[in-house]
Amino acid sequence: MGKRQFKPGNMLYPVPAVMVSVADKEGNSNIFTVAWAGTVCTNPPMLTISVRPERHSYQMIKETGEFVVNLTTEELTFATDYCGVRSGRDTDKWKDTGLTKEPASKVSVPLIKESPVNLECKVVRVDELGSHHMFLAEVVAVDVDDAYFDEKDTFHLSKAKPMAYSHGRYYGLGEQLGTFGYSVRKNADKAVKKAGEKTSEKTVKKTGEKTMKKSVVKGQKTSISRKTGDKKKK
Ligand SMILES: Cc1cc2nc3c(=O)[nH]c(=O)nc-3n(C[C@H](O)[C@H](O)[C@H](O)COP(=O)(O)O)c2cc1C
Repeated sequence: MGKRQFKPGNMLYPVPAVMVSVADKEGNSNIFTVAWAGTVCTNPPMLTISVRPERHSYQMIKETGEFVVNLTTEELTFATDYCGVRSGRDTDKWKDTGLTKEPASKVSVPLIKESPVNLECKVVRVDELGSHHMFLAEVVAVDVDDAYFDEKDTFHLSKAKPMAYSHGRYYGLGEQLGTFGYSVRKNADKAVKKAGEKTSEKTVKKTGEKTMKKSVVKGQKTSISRKTGDKKKK
């Protein structure tokens, strides 16, 4: 079996499908779904969203230079799809989905309350790439739902059950397979040495990770701390 060639296109999957909230200068707001979004810089924190100019939301972003990226979850999948197939020109997607507007701290665009993480963004540049115009934006505030912090004030995004989009389909993330840098950590699981070889539960136990279930909890400790923010450099 060899490889088949598709015509050049976008096949960088899976990606997050996010709900982006936008508003115009009169304060009318809207939500639309974006899969062409990405983190592009750690410091200053920057991300991009690529938007077709014909979207109702496009003009709103142009008008205010602001938007909010609202992360999505398994529970928000239906609303995420809906906001990506109906236009704010024809309907009020806040009302239709039942999603709740909440004031942001640094931008005039409302957040989606039900989203576990909201990234408040200010546009710094627009690149007219072709079908899509890419908004490069600085993340000026990050709002994180209290519900996903533990007693030690550690944030567990996994508890929100993030959703991913891959080639036309929506997925939950499934089980955790490792943590950042685990391949080189002392007592790392040696079973991953050979490419493609599966980690046996026995080896995991031997190397101190105990069971996969327990390592999920262990892994989460390395996620974002409310006090310090994201410590990992990527
Ligand atoms: C999963 C998914 C991903 C999407 N990603 C994008 C995207 O990255 N950029 C874009 O311009 N439109 C994207 N769309 C389409 C818009 O969300 C859609 O056209 C929406 O109805 C626009 O809403 P508006 O007219 O209210 O702005 C996506 C739709 C779905 C369902």
